[in-house]
Amino acid sequence: MEKTWWKESVVYQIYPRSFKDSNHDGIGDLNGVTEKLDYLKLLGIDVIWLCPVYQSPNCDNGYDISDYHEIMHDFGTMEDFDRLLEEAHSRGIKIIMDLVVNHTSDEHPWFVESKKSLDNPYRDYYIWQEGKDGKEPNNWGSWFGGSAWTHSAETDSYYLHIFADKQPDLNWENEKVRKEVVKLMKWWCDKGIDGFRLDVISMISKTKETPDGHVMEGMKYGDLSPYVIHGPRVHEYLRELNREVFSQYDVMTVGETAGVTEKHAEEYAGFERNELNMIFQFEHMDLDFGEKNKWNDQPPKLTNLKAVLSKWQVGLHNKAWNSLFWDNHDQPRALSRFGNDKQYWSESAKMLATCLHMMQGTPYIYQGDEIGMTNIKFTSIEQYRDIESHNAYEELVGGGLVDKEQMLSYLNYKSRDNARTPMQWDDSENAGFTNGEPWIEVNANYQSINAAAQVANENSIFAYYQKLIRLRKQHEIIVYGSYELLLPESEELFVYTRTLNDQKLLVMCNFTDETVDFVVPEELQSCQRAIWIQNYSDAAAGNHISLRPHEAIVLFFDDVNVNGRA
Ligand code: GLC
Ligand code: CA
Repeated sequence: MEKTWWKESVVYQIYPRSFKDSNHDGIGDLNGVTEKLDYLKLLGIDVIWLCPVYQSPNCDNGYDISDYHEIMHDFGTMEDFDRLLEEAHSRGIKIIMDLVVNHTSDEHPWFVESKKSLDNPYRDYYIWQEGKDGKEPNNWGSWFGGSAWTHSAETDSYYLHIFADKQPDLNWENEKVRKEVVKLMKWWCDKGIDGFRLDVISMISKTKETPDGHVMEGMKYGDLSPYVIHGPRVHEYLRELNREVFSQYDVMTVGETAGVTEKHAEEYAGFERNELNMIFQFEHMDLDFGEKNKWNDQPPKLTNLKAVLSKWQVGLHNKAWNSLFWDNHDQPRALSRFGNDKQYWSESAKMLATCLHMMQGTPYIYQGDEIGMTNIKFTSIEQYRDIESHNAYEELVGGGLVDKEQMLSYLNYKSRDNARTPMQWDDSENAGFTNGEPWIEVNANYQSINAAAQVANENSIFAYYQKLIRLRKQHEIIVYGSYELLLPESEELFVYTRTLNDQKLLVMCNFTDETVDFVVPEELQSCQRAIWIQNYSDAAAGNHISLRPHEAIVLFFDDVNVNGRA
């Protein structure tokens, strides 16, 4: 397998709005990120994924871009950006930009023009259709609720938006649109950025036909996904971007691709494909969906979680590259979802990190995970800021489909705002995030859960992450070794091995609040071993190991005959 820097890197995701406010307006900003670069250097990460910082009216916190060449006023100026990039590079940290080119804001000049008239030069930059009997062209529902079509009075026609009505989809069939995208990508690469995270990139090609989508029982709108995901020309478009842009620079690319199978992943990110370096798959994020949509409050079964993650580990080995993540700005906090964020707060944060960071792929740390941040408990919809949460509440509670208490429980478990509360820097007011009024409430647990306390403690979650990152840098087996799941039927333990030549890693993670016994596989029992990392202060040395609640241990075995006996 070819060795590349992006296979060997650890990425840290920053949601700038919630990271650090430098000018007291309650909103995180670029200078705030620059201020914290030394903290990130201390953690040991290689790459920052910066969520969108372009000019935007903020209907979806920057995922609705109105100017690709300007910085959002809330976040600062282009000079601030240039300084951030320079300061990051001087510390050996790369920056990849989150870029949204499936859609723009409805306030982008292209759309402002496009909606004016049928013969406007920008008309075909977006996807327009005539209404049917005075109604929407078809029954497609937007992923953020309501119809996926919005009427525009100027031309008495409808435009498509997979997301909010303020996020019209670009028409990639139009060559001019593709040229614009190439141009703006090159503009950023010429600035010296190190790559892109490509928002919902699997949706840029749509089918020509637009029939009604399937309507689930009790739902109002039809499912548009068969017509907008992995569309007929998506790979052609990506190869074009690769040819024109990605291959011309030393950049990494990661595509957000909801709904992919391993087969799709090979197409998007196969080593020989010349499309993307890697993708995000979401199968493990979708395991705790409710019957009809994502809203639910029950954690997934461990056996399912293991089956999915293992399938990806094995399926992409030597073919394509995995991204490893437990959460991001669209998901609740991993610790609250897969761990025990109370009694075993520290153990389970470390255990989850171990389980992920010992797998094959590029690990992504979402801001705050390295200090054990947890979900927030809001008690009313007014405390939420997220458009998806608000629209879902309105549709489900307003429409009488889910009662209010139930919906709040769903939101507490699943809302994207769980990950968007301000980064907890210290125990001063507003967690040291701002001296102003924070745009979203700070989690009340900041007095005990904060970066200052973590950095000062050598047994902290932060220190544990530092060690995991260091191990990856020291040992190729973590990056390049093959993967095998043990005990697939266990609802308690997640155990797997990694193998490279005659070396083996045994990764043992207890996902429960109980002690669970484990026996080291026979072929390893008499091998030389070393404990690489453990989340309790002492770990068992023998072949019969009692894994304590949320315990994680990584054992390294040398000189193993991988075909069988030691
Ligand atoms: C992606 C982003 C999400 C955003 C959506 C629409 O899924 O991660 O935050 O709302 O795309 O751009
Ligand atoms: Ca600010």
